[in-house]
Amino acid sequence: MMATGKVVALNGGQWGDEGKGRFVDEFGKPVKFFVRVAGGDNAGHTVIVDGKKMVAHLMPSGITYPEARCFLGHDMVINPRSFQKEFAGLQELGFLKCQQLGVSPLAHLIMPYCLDLEKFREQARGKSAIGTTLRGIGTTYEMKARRLGIRVGDLQHLEKLPDYISTILAEINPDLNRWGGEVYSFQAIMEFLEEARQIMAPYIIGEPLSKIIIQAKKFGDNVLIEGAQGAELDLTHGTYPYVTSSSTIAGGACSGAGIGPRVIDSVYAVLKAYTTRVGGGPFPTELPTELAALIRERGGEVGASTGRPRRIGWLDGPQLRHASRIGGWDGIVITKADVLQGIEVKVCDYYSYGNKTVWDMDEVDSRELGNVQPSLQDVGIFTEDISGCRDYDSLPKTAKMLFSTIADLAGAPILAISVGPERGQTISLQNPWNY
Ligand code: IMP
Repeated sequence: MMATGKVVALNGGQWGDEGKGRFVDEFGKPVKFFVRVAGGDNAGHTVIVDGKKMVAHLMPSGITYPEARCFLGHDMVINPRSFQKEFAGLQELGFLKCQQLGVSPLAHLIMPYCLDLEKFREQARGKSAIGTTLRGIGTTYEMKARRLGIRVGDLQHLEKLPDYISTILAEINPDLNRWGGEVYSFQAIMEFLEEARQIMAPYIIGEPLSKIIIQAKKFGDNVLIEGAQGAELDLTHGTYPYVTSSSTIAGGACSGAGIGPRVIDSVYAVLKAYTTRVGGGPFPTELPTELAALIRERGGEVGASTGRPRRIGWLDGPQLRHASRIGGWDGIVITKADVLQGIEVKVCDYYSYGNKTVWDMDEVDSRELGNVQPSLQDVGIFTEDISGCRDYDSLPKTAKMLFSTIADLAGAPILAISVGPERGQTISLQNPWNY
């Protein structure tokens, strides 16, 4: 009997930028199908092949594998110009090696007015701005929910759209006018859509993605369903309103790939050995500037999409308990452990909120998270260079203590620990495809 393939959902366990691309780089070889499920070019993952580096925003991480079939899934929002630019850049560097690149017809297009509207909205929020990537992500999901979005599949029958476009313009032009922005003409939109059609049409998949995944599993091929961003940026479960506008947890994998939950065999999360976040919003374990600056510099903690410095904090127990519970983690991958060498490491065990002890982040309203006091526990310091360690036993005692604390807080076993930026600088504890 033929072995069935394994379907894995991979998600960020914190506020994004945990190094999901690194997981794919180290463990992606046995995977035939890569599906990115949500978000758009707000994400950024760094791809390094043969010493050459490129930041991908939209493409699934598997594009560098020649055997791979890669898909941009149903809940993505796609700016066709970003798609074209990224595609050309990856091709020029010789990174685009996959057998197939396909885009779901159900994914939504980021329209030019979505970019304008987001800029005005963020400006109007002033000090309370979300700190979005200004890529039109939230406004595109908003148009989707208003039933005024344009889907990638619509590009295949532009002649059917005129009435719909007129309805959209009647809604958004008064908004743009109110903000003092330029309004859009019918012709400008149609020209944009024609441009988008030329870029995207060759990649629109004809066969339902769910069929492709279920067949793949049946015929013994592994499937990796990649979430973007991280658990605490989830639209529903994250630190609302300082979140992105899509589902970033394993639950979102089902809609974004078009499969039922029982098709997924395992859920893995990637976490840093500390915490980072970009943009506004509460961050209970955020660090004082000097130490943050040191970790930021060592860890290269600058936003891959926007170049903004990332905020730095200690590992946050209540956050991990929350994220693990809502994500249903079966295993974790810890990244950037080497960055903490020589630093007196602390981990937050719980928060104090008034006279209450808070063990799980979602016991406090997210608007109140700025008022909790993290209770920090000293883990100690490892002075040894761990970047050459390739097995768990050779790690210093304090580093092991840090990792077992992380596994305890996450309530899931460790699959791997990355101890340096290069491919192969990894301690592998379990094979994610046989686990
Ligand atoms: P948006 O996704 O551009 O709407 O931004 C909403 C929030 O999510 C902002 O705080 C962004 O900084 C954050 N965000 C979006 N994408 C990423 C990411 O890939 N990594 C980290 N933060 C992100």
